[in-house]
Amino acid sequence: MPPRADGLPRHSDALAGTDHDPDERGYFGDFGGRWLPEALVGALDEVAEAYRKARIDPEFLAELDRLAETYAGRPSPLSDAARLTAEVGGARILLKREDLNHTGSHKINNVLGQALLAQRMGKTKVIAETGAGQHGVATATAAALLGLQCTVYMGRVDTERQALNVARMRLLGAEVVPVDNGSATLKDAINEAFRDWVTNVDHTFYLFGTVGGPHPFPVIVRDFQRIIGLEARVQVQRLTGRLPDAVAACVGGGSNAIGIFHAFLDDPDVRLVGLEAGGDGVETGRHASTISGGTVGVLHGARSFLLQNEDGQVAESHSISAGLDYPGVGPEHSHLADISRAEYRPITDTQAMDAFALLSRTEGIIPAIESAHAVAGGVALAREIGPGGIVLINVSGRGDKDMETALRWFGLGDDTAVDGTERATEAAEKGAVNAPDGPPAVRPSDFPAAPSGQDIQL
Ligand SMILES: Cc1ncc(COP(=O)(O)O)c(C=O)c1O
Repeated sequence: MPPRADGLPRHSDALAGTDHDPDERGYFGDFGGRWLPEALVGALDEVAEAYRKARIDPEFLAELDRLAETYAGRPSPLSDAARLTAEVGGARILLKREDLNHTGSHKINNVLGQALLAQRMGKTKVIAETGAGQHGVATATAAALLGLQCTVYMGRVDTERQALNVARMRLLGAEVVPVDNGSATLKDAINEAFRDWVTNVDHTFYLFGTVGGPHPFPVIVRDFQRIIGLEARVQVQRLTGRLPDAVAACVGGGSNAIGIFHAFLDDPDVRLVGLEAGGDGVETGRHASTISGGTVGVLHGARSFLLQNEDGQVAESHSISAGLDYPGVGPEHSHLADISRAEYRPITDTQAMDAFALLSRTEGIIPAIESAHAVAGGVALAREIGPGGIVLINVSGRGDKDMETALRWFGLGDDTAVDGTERATEAAEKGAVNAPDGPPAVRPSDFPAAPSGQDIQL
C-alpha cells in the first residue's frame, strides 16, 4: 500500500513486528505460554502459523487497511480536551478517540484482523466471549460483513447489565449464549467458549477479545491494537511538538492499553499507566485489580497475574464495568509491571462514575464506563504532573451501552430525575476523585446471583 496522504500510519504498519515480541513459546519474560489441554495445541499452532503468513502477505494487509479505513473509520481522531484541562487545572489532557470507531470501541480493530484470518483459514464459524458486549458486537458485525456464522458467549449477569448490546448482536445475526456458571461474567464466558472450541475446532475460529489467553492470542490481539498508539504518537507530536508525559488506559484483559502503550515502550520518559477496576476498593476484596491486588498463577491458558485464594482457586472479580470485570490480565502487562515499565493503579466504581459524569459535562463525550476508569486515572495524573505537562488518555469506547447503569447510579430518568441530574452534575463537579454522597439506588452487584459452577482452568 502507498503511504497515506496525511502521513499517519496504516493498520497494517502495526503488524510489522517489534523488539517486544514474545519468545517462540509465547513468553513475555516469565509470563504467557500455553497452559491448556493437549486437544487445543494443534488448533493454536494452526492459528499461529496462519498469522505468521498473513502478517507479511500484501493481499491480507491491503484488505485489513481497506476495511480499517472504509468500514471501521480509522484513523481515529485526537481531541484536545480544553475544558477538562481547564477544570482539572493540571497538565494538558488529550483524548485518543477509539469511541468513534464503527461499533463504538477499540474492539473492532482486533476483530477485523482476526475475522479476516478466520476467513483465510477456511473457517465457516467464529465464536467469541464478551463482557461489556463490545467485543461481541464487533465480532457479530465482522461475521455479518464476511458471511461467517457467529456464536457469542456472555455471562448472564453481563447480558442483564448490557442488554442493549445483546439486542445489537442478535440483530446482526449472532447467536448469544448466556452463561450461568461461576460469577456469570467474562471469565465464565471464556470457559464456555474454550469448551465449544475444543469440540468444534475443525470449522470454528475462536476470535479472542483481549491480549490474554494462550499463545498466540496475546501477540495477535496486541498487534491488531497497536495501531492506536502508532497513530496517537504521531498525532500528539504534531499537535504539541513533543511526546506526552504520561499515557493512561483502562485495563480489563488489557487490549486497548497495550494497543496505546506499545508505541511508547521505548520512550522511557513517557509514563505508561494502566487503570484497573478497583470496584468497592482493593482493601474490600471486591474488585478486579488483577495486577495491583493479585498474585501470579494460571488462568485461561496463560501464566499471569490473577485474583485467586490461597488454594489457587480463581476468585470472583467485581466491577461496575462489565468489560473490566475479569480476574485475569494479559501476560504482557504482567511483564511490563514486573520490569517496572508500566504502572497499574486501581480506580473505584465511584471514582469511575465521577469521571463518567465529568467528561460528559466538560467535553460532551459520554465515555464507556471502562474508559471512565482511564479518565479518572488520567485526571489524577494531570493533577500530579501539573501545568506544562501532557497526559494522553485512551477513550476506548462510548457510553451508549452504559446508559442504563448511569441512569441507576445517578438516579436519572424517573421521579428522582431532578435530584438525579443534580447528583450527576455534582459528581462531575467534584472531579473524578471524590465519592458522591450515599450509595447508588441500584448497583450491578444487586443483580440476581448466578448459581455457581465449575471453572475449567485451561
Ligand atoms: C470500551 C471498552 N474498553 C475497555 C474494555 C476492556 O478490554 P481491554 O482491556 O481488552 O481493552 C472493554 C471490554 O469489553 C470495552 O468494551
